Amino acid sequence: MKSHDLVIVGAGLAGMRAALEGVRAGINVAIISKIHPLRSHSCAAQGGINAAIDPKDSWESHAFDTVKGSDYIGDEDAIQLMCREAPGVVLDMDRMGAPFSRLEDGRVAQRPFGGANFDRTCYAADRTGQVLLHTLWEQLVKANVAVYEECQVLRLVTDRGDRHVAGLVTYDIRTGELFSVRAKAVVIATGGYGRVYISSTNATSSTGDGMALALRAGAPLGDMEFVQFHPTGLLTSGILVTEGARGEGGVLINALGERFMGRYAPTKLELASRDVVSRAEQTEINEGRGVKGAVLLDLRHLGAEKILERLPQIRELSVDLEGVDPIHDPIPVRPTAHYSMGGIRTDQYGATPLPGLFAAGEAACVSVHGANRLGGNSLLDTIVFGKVTGKRASEYVVGKSFRDLPDRELQQVRQEINELKSRQQYGIRPIELHARMASAMNAYCGVFRTAEGIQTIVDQIPSLRKDYELIHLDDKSEVFNVDLLRALELRNLIDLAECIVKGALARKESRGAHSRVDFPQRDDSEWRKHTLAWWDEDQGQVSLSYEAVRTLGIPEYEPKARVY
Ligand code: FUM
Repeated sequence: MKSHDLVIVGAGLAGMRAALEGVRAGINVAIISKIHPLRSHSCAAQGGINAAIDPKDSWESHAFDTVKGSDYIGDEDAIQLMCREAPGVVLDMDRMGAPFSRLEDGRVAQRPFGGANFDRTCYAADRTGQVLLHTLWEQLVKANVAVYEECQVLRLVTDRGDRHVAGLVTYDIRTGELFSVRAKAVVIATGGYGRVYISSTNATSSTGDGMALALRAGAPLGDMEFVQFHPTGLLTSGILVTEGARGEGGVLINALGERFMGRYAPTKLELASRDVVSRAEQTEINEGRGVKGAVLLDLRHLGAEKILERLPQIRELSVDLEGVDPIHDPIPVRPTAHYSMGGIRTDQYGATPLPGLFAAGEAACVSVHGANRLGGNSLLDTIVFGKVTGKRASEYVVGKSFRDLPDRELQQVRQEINELKSRQQYGIRPIELHARMASAMNAYCGVFRTAEGIQTIVDQIPSLRKDYELIHLDDKSEVFNVDLLRALELRNLIDLAECIVKGALARKESRGAHSRVDFPQRDDSEWRKHTLAWWDEDQGQVSLSYEAVRTLGIPEYEPKARVY
């Protein structure tokens, strides 16, 4: 059986950065990823990574912006850790060779981003995630790290006694073979669950698999109701148009040609935090001032030279996918599901309540983003907590032994796959069931929410699960069976949708990205707490509990009205 001290599931920025710590610690580390590492969704992060590297800025100011951006529900110890580490990890990436955009004098360039008091977002044109991903990949290739690519983890196995992690059952997408991997510790870094929604900036691979694995293994998921809608997804495809476009001076206009953000965020305008801008856009659309279901992002006044230098990918995507050249015409955009503030609940070093299980990046809820993440803090989260968690997990495995990983776990997974493939009768296609669920999520658990709407989906969950038992695969083959993969991912998405809607229905307030029309105020006395979602094996459903926010008693961090 394959065995590694530390196995990282997921090869985006958090996973690769964690693996690098394993390399530096000299342990036997391996990565398992369902896609080639360089196709990880981190490469879609465009606009930049926040760090107080300018002497006129400070990590304290960054931490304050993040606490405020989180709508006072982020864990303050973790926020401070992230902001303090930020300059070091960004300059470390610079030294590894990440080709950041530069100022005339050679320093790393920074641009304004939403919700920040300082221009602190370091960037590489509009391809920041992609260059960071390539830089880390070079390091792992150099270190000859074992990578199981195009392999999907289907089960996280824990010891039946003390629930310590024992290993993983994994499906090789290229061959259809199942294999087990023993591990002394596992870091889950599989990214977010954007595909719970029908319109998303996320890759089709963002199906929250690691979160669902952890949930089913007995770990809690935190704050799943907080889902970020990015204000500028392309109208037709939902593909991201970076916040950097507004950072460079782009403006939002409605059907009347008004620059409407003044009504919603008089000081920061288009650079208010994302929850604020998304609600403003959705209000314009709902009140009839939209343009065919969108608003317009106008970059024309920036001029061709700046657009081509700073936003080349945005121009290319707009031309190719929307048929609009931003040098000459405004781009139709709308709020689009973008980021999961929720995830596997961890402490500030990435440890979960399950011994030997760690999580980092978007898959985790550390929680540094609380109810609303600031743009540019996502790449930072991946690099800081990839590093911190990788280091902690590498230390953890020292002196530990491998646990038994019984063959029956693999046999059970094999039986489940065989059962799915052997259904002869024509039933529901996975894609149809996904569309039903994901469309309802956009309609009823999106930018604005009501009890009635959310209840519609809560009521649908049992029938989604029942219909899942009827899904039918056309493809019965072994090699690259994408039909099977989509079906397995769909089960994960249904689990996560249940966590999101149950958390959203229970939280009777509006905070950050969770905007309840029927409870429009933030309620700190009752709801300044984290939601935990658990898998209840006996009931076959998700149940909730709550946990206090980790605060530091700093007067500046006391909750206030959040205005921009
Ligand atoms: O708008 C963007 O470039 C996205 C960045 C982020 O989500 O942090």
